[in-house]
Amino acid sequence: MIQKNIVVNFQEYKSIDDLDNLDKELVEKAIVAGSNAYSPYSNFHVGAAAKLGNGNIICGNNQENAAYPSGLCAERTALFYANANFPDQKIESLVILGEKNGEALKDIVPPCGACRQVIWESQNRQKSPIRIILASKNKVMIFDDINQLLPFSFDDSLLK
Ligand code: THU
Repeated sequence: MIQKNIVVNFQEYKSIDDLDNLDKELVEKAIVAGSNAYSPYSNFHVGAAAKLGNGNIICGNNQENAAYPSGLCAERTALFYANANFPDQKIESLVILGEKNGEALKDIVPPCGACRQVIWESQNRQKSPIRIILASKNKVMIFDDINQLLPFSFDDSLLK
């Protein structure tokens, strides 16, 4: 037996104010998106904003349903919209955050497992990395690609 380890690389900032203007704008859009979440069952608002290669910003938020599993997370709402309407545009960066009263939460919202898999598929499809920005009041974590958040991923090569 060999004990092995993996390393997760990311950049950490103390505050949203420390980000450059483009990332800050993306965070602001995600906060607005979060404020429009439809989440009457969890009362937990999540916002996502994806920056495309053509400069467009696509936003999403969580959409819940009385039949609970029928809902969808914020980042998948944004990614599916981007991939459905701009299939030729690469997604460069994706902000994910929790929102309350028009502000980012104090804790980051790490994407759920299903969302990581969907981000992975989008990245694989476009053949270029998607930067993932997990933003909160007290901390911002930036991952250069989804591989950092989803090592040992299931992908299309396994289907061949
Ligand atoms: N949620 C997201 O939108 N993204 C995630 O990655 C984690 C969870 C939503 C789903 C549900 O509407 C609420 O947060 C509580 O789980």
